[in-house]
Amino acid sequence: MTETMPLLTVRNLNKTFPVRRSALGRATEVVHAVNDVSLEIEPGSTLGIVGESGSGKSTLGRVCLRMIEADDGEIRFADANLRQLSAAQLRSTRAHMTTIFQDPYSALDPRWTVGQIIEEPLRINGSHSRAERRTIVADILPRVGLSADAVHRIPRSFSGGQRQRIVIARALVTRPRLVFCDEPVSSLDVSTRAQVLGLLRELQSEFQLAYLFVSHDLGVVERMSDRIAVMYLGSIVEIGAAETVAQRYRHPYTAALVSASPAADPVAQRARHRIVLNGDPPSPIDIPKGCPFHPRCALAIARCATDKPELVMTPNGHGVACHVTNADRTLTGTTLFDSMVERRLSFAAERTTS
Ligand SMILES: Nc1ncnc2c1ncn2[C@@H]1O[C@H](COP(=O)(O)OP(=O)(O)O)[C@@H](O)[C@H]1O
Ligand code: SF4
Ligand SMILES: [Mg+2]
Repeated sequence: MTETMPLLTVRNLNKTFPVRRSALGRATEVVHAVNDVSLEIEPGSTLGIVGESGSGKSTLGRVCLRMIEADDGEIRFADANLRQLSAAQLRSTRAHMTTIFQDPYSALDPRWTVGQIIEEPLRINGSHSRAERRTIVADILPRVGLSADAVHRIPRSFSGGQRQRIVIARALVTRPRLVFCDEPVSSLDVSTRAQVLGLLRELQSEFQLAYLFVSHDLGVVERMSDRIAVMYLGSIVEIGAAETVAQRYRHPYTAALVSASPAADPVAQRARHRIVLNGDPPSPIDIPKGCPFHPRCALAIARCATDKPELVMTPNGHGVACHVTNADRTLTGTTLFDSMVERRLSFAAERTTS
């Protein structure tokens, strides 16, 4: 692998789930969880994925690591074509990928000691002797902020934040190159959250980890990410450098996420009006034609109900899927935010006078 090659490259990935079948077993209703997603993650960097619950973030991560199978599309891990690997090849490639999930309570077997829990991935790998495994576990504990005597204790005797440290230790013990972090701090209180995010960043530079970092909270994603992809109903609607997406966003849905995120944009936060979207996201079984966001969008024009906008990339790697803001490049950041608020207010005024 050359230095410039991305660690993970995904092209035109699709994943559906059949949710209702006919008597003959044919799928009659299908959830479109991931729609034509393409992305890249550089070695040692973080791609954050943000979007409302149900937007397809977890499914995208699971498909990228081949924990579940994609319907179609291409997934490359370094120079391996992940979807074409044999079971044996996949097992050895998997040693370089791991996951950290949201809930440290259910992720840890309550009957096992912390030492057994952290050692388990090495045991499954079969690549180290018992003595080597013990040494590796003893070495990782202080790096995640746990004391040496933790090995003999069971998970119940630890707080939520400490349990997530155990989960992180177990994830890193095989020295992975890519970690899929799925809402890793969502179940933690605010102060513990900051500590665990800080730890993940320290470990990233120490072990040169790449993160696929998923959260519904734009503030958390901005803090962790080099690049951010915004997902809506299974599609990426905006992608770019973290600062660009969080501050010079050009998609109306990103503007709504920024306005709902207390820490992300102090200027927007000071604005008198929050952007309130129309209703809940539509069903992923019946995704609206045209732009999937059009039923909730303050800036929608007639074309939005019929033509799906392409993700148009600028030369500096900022991609946006929106007919209106791709035609008017002045609509960015707080200017976009203000025009959405004005539009909402004029709609409201029209309704009260008519
Ligand atoms: N195993 C499954 N079977 C059926 N539908 C699923 C399954 N997993 C996820 N979904 C559906 O796919 C969509 C995306 O889910 P998910 O990836 O969990 O979103 P997020 O992580 O953004 O909350 C949702 O509508 C969800 O209900
Ligand atoms: S394409 Fe239209 S509906 Fe979609 S985000 Fe842009 S303005 Fe809104
Ligand atoms: Mg999820």
